[in-house]
Amino acid sequence: MYARPLFVVVGIFRGILPRFPAFRDSVWPGPPWQRGRLRLYAALMNDAIKLAPETSSQAASLPQLSVVVPTFNERDNVTVLYRRLDATLKNVSWEVIFVDDNSPDGTWDVVRALARKDSRVRCIRRIGRRGLSGACIEGILASSAPYAAVMDADLQHDETQLPKMVALLQSGEAELVVGSRYIEGYKTEGFNKQRAGASAFATEIARRSLKVEIADPMSGFFMIRRDRFEQLAPQLSTQGFKILLDVVATAEGKLRAVEIPYTFGARQHGESKLDSMVALDFLGLVLAKLTNDVISLRFILFAAVGGLGLLVHLSVLFIALELFKAPFPEAQATGAIVAMTSNFILNNFLTYRDQRLKGFGILRGLLLFYLVCSVGLLANVGVAFSVYDQEPIWWLAGAAGALMGVVWNYAMSGLFVWRKR
Ligand code: GDD
Ligand code: MN
Repeated sequence: MYARPLFVVVGIFRGILPRFPAFRDSVWPGPPWQRGRLRLYAALMNDAIKLAPETSSQAASLPQLSVVVPTFNERDNVTVLYRRLDATLKNVSWEVIFVDDNSPDGTWDVVRALARKDSRVRCIRRIGRRGLSGACIEGILASSAPYAAVMDADLQHDETQLPKMVALLQSGEAELVVGSRYIEGYKTEGFNKQRAGASAFATEIARRSLKVEIADPMSGFFMIRRDRFEQLAPQLSTQGFKILLDVVATAEGKLRAVEIPYTFGARQHGESKLDSMVALDFLGLVLAKLTNDVISLRFILFAAVGGLGLLVHLSVLFIALELFKAPFPEAQATGAIVAMTSNFILNNFLTYRDQRLKGFGILRGLLLFYLVCSVGLLANVGVAFSVYDQEPIWWLAGAAGALMGVVWNYAMSGLFVWRKR
């Protein structure tokens, strides 16, 4: 239907173009011997996205490998890492992208200084955001190199493995290469017994529940074809630490993976950012993947805190009535306020620990939380009433009301109390 007008337009252009060489070349900058019907077509239809022919010198300096390094307070490590990369990556063109979450120690400042000296160094400074996985995702997506590696800034990952990893991707043998601490030949220096045990346990859960086949899905050291990563990226979680596990689970076995052993070294400077909460992150990821992202860990935590709040409320009510002989309305109100306050504190430490409110923000958040929960209570009672009206089954009405309340509180808390910047 559009073919005829298109032919007319093309015809007009073919008639006009040769008369205006400058205009012609701007539409289609190609050598004369390549001018033909086909090229003209392509130029007209893809004018906006067509590529200028690269000169060979430009192409040679384009990076084949992008090393993505998430950083948080790694000021003393980044320069050493950069030097080591420079020493190791002799036969492959590379760049390094540091993704820094606005480190208080000014890591981004050190990286900027490096970048002023060497254009292969790039810095993404993220403000108002925290999270290892999200940082890695942004770093990889900021690159145009065919291969992207992820590694720690603290020199725990053995950068001399990188050339081997590139070779495996280049040969087509693998689409993902994992630096693995579990297969034959691995050595570990920076891993204490307790952590090794926890990590092995988590790996076993992941393998069984998510059918992740690789030996070390908790590794933070891997290299992947960027095009494959780009396909998976929209389904990846930006929260938490377990980016590789997420990648492998999301790919559902469609990613050809090869593992290579390496020595997990000791951290050079600074301290690990992984705390016991990593276990929670891990559970959350498994849950989200198993339920196709329907149930988030945040919601589960929020609901659990809410359930605990009910117990707190009833205990306070009991104490106020029995011990202090308070009148019921006062006792009930006290119970509600104590429960809301403890819920707020727990949520701030657990459910929203990555967006924890501090200082004056705590007071403001608490008042907003009271407000949200009060409206939530109205919604709760309203829904329970109308269900009971239709079907006088007390537990059904009660449960429907409670569900309404928690969903409302959750949604509104995310919007107003712990709001993402
Ligand atoms: N941008 C950003 N934001 N970077 C972060 C954040 C964050 O919130 N948290 C940590 N990092 C950076 C650190 O600066 C470091 O370069 C890297 O991410 C890994 O953090 P570490 O604190 O060094 O973690 P680890 O060495 O204890 O844990 C390693 O082993 C785990 C497996 O048990 C890492 O390789 C993990 O990725 C891996 O899962
Ligand atoms: Mn580390």
